[in-house]
Amino acid sequence: MELKDKVLKGHDRQIELSYRLAKVGYNSTIGRLLRLRAYYADALIMLRAWRDFLYIRKENIGDKYFAVDQAIMHTSHSQVKELMQVEPQLRGNDLGIIRILAPSYLLNNPLSLGMNGNEHTGVRAVFLQALPEPSEQVDVLGHLVDQSLLKAAQGGKLHIGDDLPGMMLAILHQVVFQISLSEEEITASRAYIKGLPLASLPNFFSKYLLAIRTAPNTRHRKRLIERYKQSPKWASYMETGARYGLNEHQIANSLFDMIHIAGTAGTSALLGSVIGVLCLDNALRNDVVSEVNAVWNGQGTPNANALEQSTLITKVILETARLYPPVRFVSQLTTESGEVAIANQRCPFQKGTRLLGSIFTANRDSNRYKNPDDFDVTRDFSDILSWNGEGHERACPGKSLSIGLIQIFCLYLFKKYQWNSITEVKWDFANVTAVTPNDLVLQGFAQQV
Ligand code: HEM
Repeated sequence: MELKDKVLKGHDRQIELSYRLAKVGYNSTIGRLLRLRAYYADALIMLRAWRDFLYIRKENIGDKYFAVDQAIMHTSHSQVKELMQVEPQLRGNDLGIIRILAPSYLLNNPLSLGMNGNEHTGVRAVFLQALPEPSEQVDVLGHLVDQSLLKAAQGGKLHIGDDLPGMMLAILHQVVFQISLSEEEITASRAYIKGLPLASLPNFFSKYLLAIRTAPNTRHRKRLIERYKQSPKWASYMETGARYGLNEHQIANSLFDMIHIAGTAGTSALLGSVIGVLCLDNALRNDVVSEVNAVWNGQGTPNANALEQSTLITKVILETARLYPPVRFVSQLTTESGEVAIANQRCPFQKGTRLLGSIFTANRDSNRYKNPDDFDVTRDFSDILSWNGEGHERACPGKSLSIGLIQIFCLYLFKKYQWNSITEVKWDFANVTAVTPNDLVLQGFAQQV
């Protein structure tokens, strides 16, 4: 069957399912099984054709449609923006579109994304304490970035997919815990991140049938968390968390997820895309190099002014995050049942139904962005959705640190390092991998002399 037929037939079944769930109950055993079947049926297509899946349904059904576990997908900029601003926001333990069905992979601590109420407020207080304002620690961050790049220079190449996540893991563990990870720990942390889809399988499969894949990862998580408790910063995180009734298991596991999932996966994907964009566009790269030379003379580490004056680099980062958002979906739960208009039909939905916001399609909505598929640094970025918007309880707490880190990477890359050739720059919009040019290699990567 052609992809389009498959995607649309799958939606017809979703519509039928909405009526069946109204009869059998959303959370009854049969209701849950029916939703699980729909979830895996759509997920199997999305694994190989996620962008086409989104656009086939959007173009043939409308801006709103059912997907995966009978979730209601919102695809326009205005819909997604509105969803993000809902407060208070009720969440299930979901990582965007991915449902965490194997809590064992997370050592039975929910993602912060899946927490609600006081627990969520407390965990965010710990995150905000752990994540520094980059302008206040530019020297520390500068040293860490330089050390990472130096290591790549010793190997003579910088590989986007292979090297950046490890760099980010090393940097974030230093920033958050002041601990150095060994090469083995970095490799194990990377394996943990790569294995995250295994958390989306039912617990029995993930924990027992696939133990050969999952057990080494969960063992690593347990060991690393024990190291966190030896950190000089640990007592202060415990003090903050305890004010909200959080115990050490919750605090350590939430910080593990903050570093591994949100911090490393998101920031290395965005940094890789920024490097890809600058490799492809010679004129833009020359302008960035001029800015780098104007704001930093290369002596010592850059200072806060250098970050503030890197206005073009900042716009490149924001526009790259718009076109290649590392986080593609946000998710929340309805607190009431009702009816939703889908494809000119009023369909019932039940309390607890997931509402998904598709950041990727929202960012390329022609009603919000003129020529949305073009790269344009002169856009108005005031309501950019890539970090889950701004000024509400669920906005990304790592926004300014991730932008600051990428600014610093750009300063060092163009002032202190060089490379003599690059491989193909290509974003994969079919397979569900990070939206970044994973295979790009800067060859002959070395320190500038
Ligand atoms: C230093 C790097 C980063 C850290 C430490 C970080 C941390 C976090 C944390 C802890 C959350 C969960 C907040 C909560 O539960 O209330 C979060 C949410 C989020 N972050 Fe980040 N983040 C980083 C970088 C990024 C980047 C580069 C992007 C994308 C450009 C991003 C986009 C998002 C989005 C969209 C959410 C909301 C997800 C949802 O609600 O489902 N983050 N981030």
